[in-house]
Amino acid sequence: MISISVFCLLLCTGASAFRFEELTQYVNTHQDEFVETLRQWIAVESDSSDVTKRADLHRMMDMTAEKLRLIGGKVEMIDIGTQTLANGSSIDLPKVVTAQFGDDPSKHTVCVYGHVDVQPAKMEDGWSTEPYELTDLNGNLYGRGASDNKAPVLAWIHALEVYKALNIDPPVNVKLLIEGMEETGSNGLEQMIVAHKDSFFSAVDFIIISDCVWLSKRPALTYGTRGNCYFCAEVEGPKNDLHSGVYGGTVVEPMTDLIGILDKLISSSGQILVPGIREAVAPLGDEEWSRYQDIEFDLQSFKQDIGLTQLMYSNKVDLLAHRWRHPTVSIHGIEGAFSSPGTKTVIPAKVIGKFSIRQVPDMDPAVVEKQVTDYLHSVFAKRKSPNKLNVTMVIGAKPWLADPKHPLFDAGKAAVKRVFDVEPDLIREGGTIPIARTFQDVTGKSIIMLPIGGFDDGLHSQNEKISRRNYIEGTKLFIAYLYEVSQIKKY
Ligand SMILES: *[C@@H]1O[C@H](CO)[C@@H](O)[C@H](O)[C@H]1NC(C)=O
Ligand SMILES: *[C@@H]1O[C@H](CO)[C@@H](O)[C@H](O)[C@H]1NC(C)=O
Ligand SMILES: [Zn+2]
Repeated sequence: MISISVFCLLLCTGASAFRFEELTQYVNTHQDEFVETLRQWIAVESDSSDVTKRADLHRMMDMTAEKLRLIGGKVEMIDIGTQTLANGSSIDLPKVVTAQFGDDPSKHTVCVYGHVDVQPAKMEDGWSTEPYELTDLNGNLYGRGASDNKAPVLAWIHALEVYKALNIDPPVNVKLLIEGMEETGSNGLEQMIVAHKDSFFSAVDFIIISDCVWLSKRPALTYGTRGNCYFCAEVEGPKNDLHSGVYGGTVVEPMTDLIGILDKLISSSGQILVPGIREAVAPLGDEEWSRYQDIEFDLQSFKQDIGLTQLMYSNKVDLLAHRWRHPTVSIHGIEGAFSSPGTKTVIPAKVIGKFSIRQVPDMDPAVVEKQVTDYLHSVFAKRKSPNKLNVTMVIGAKPWLADPKHPLFDAGKAAVKRVFDVEPDLIREGGTIPIARTFQDVTGKSIIMLPIGGFDDGLHSQNEKISRRNYIEGTKLFIAYLYEVSQIKKY
């Protein structure tokens, strides 16, 4: 009797054992094919900001759909309408590609988000190799969109392909949502998510975004992003620009007013001077402090990379905290100012100062808008200027923050450990990925960001790349992650 039940135990658990070795072996022996597919994808100039490339972008979405169909996905291409151009004519937005693999109600369902459009790239921008020809050099795969976001999307697709090739049922149901307008602000996507909240998203348990990078050579899991409130402060004076020789000394100059109020936004030591903003920021707890302490981050090379000898903070925890979880003010430019070379002696009649405040929990963009507007008006009033000030907030993107103790992150740690044999860093992003917050607000699902890109991949920059190691081991990471997520208890 005993031997029979032992046999049954082996057999029963054997049926669902995770055949990780076989799966990774398949990745190893097929890695050149995976690089070849990336080469074909990089060859498509799917630049969403350039309307003359729209046909390429449509072709990119078709290729994505075709690839997903080939590996057995139930694919749909969802029309998300048109885009109105500056000259009033309109063109089709690239369709959103969705695909479904499995619909077993006893399994979890994850939704993977990615995008296959890219930033512009030209040889003249200073690339060392043709941006749309994948170049395999010293272990790196160079090409526009390599890391952002074509290789991560392909790594997910290949992860599913490997399961299928070995006739292994993926341990969770997988849905993919791939868009083609991310680089220009995900036009039409929020409406699509809202419209499909009770259909496509209803069975989804978790959402995974792989559209970011590690902080160092160590793999990372990302649990937060900052938001952004972008402002225009317009100061208007005389009806035309004036000659400083003729009018200088007789008028209160709009530019002087603008510089005066912009200077009151932030102190030289980085303190935001707008009342109420610092008070709204969630305090840094001991646990968060020690999490930052554990992160692998080289302050010295961070400094060297940007060519500075001194940063605002000289220790790692303060620097990371101010990069990720404190707000800051950046002044970006002044429109209407004389900005070409030369020595024109003009008094600009109207100038618009542009600045933004990176948002963190628990700030609220609507509150920030009022705080900044009221404050700038009160600072302006003290100047007793006859000019007119108009402050408007033109972008109000919210931050996103997940609980790094959520089981999704435990699954991430287990998958990283399995593939890389290290503990991942738990990091946040200083930048904004608005879609994360949209997913959270609209669907209410838990989200994890699971990057495979390297810290030095050069997203949006010249010579963008992903290393072959990150691409191939990243594929294994996704294979492992699907298994680890399946181990999360249903609740
Ligand atoms: C508007 O601009 C687009 C893209 O530059 C161009 O293809 C189109 O012909 C223009 N339409 C009109 C009415 O000028
Ligand atoms: C301020 O600027 C905004 C945006 O340009 C405009 O809609 C609004 O009418 C302006 N308000 C005043 C008082 O000029
Ligand atoms: Zn991206």
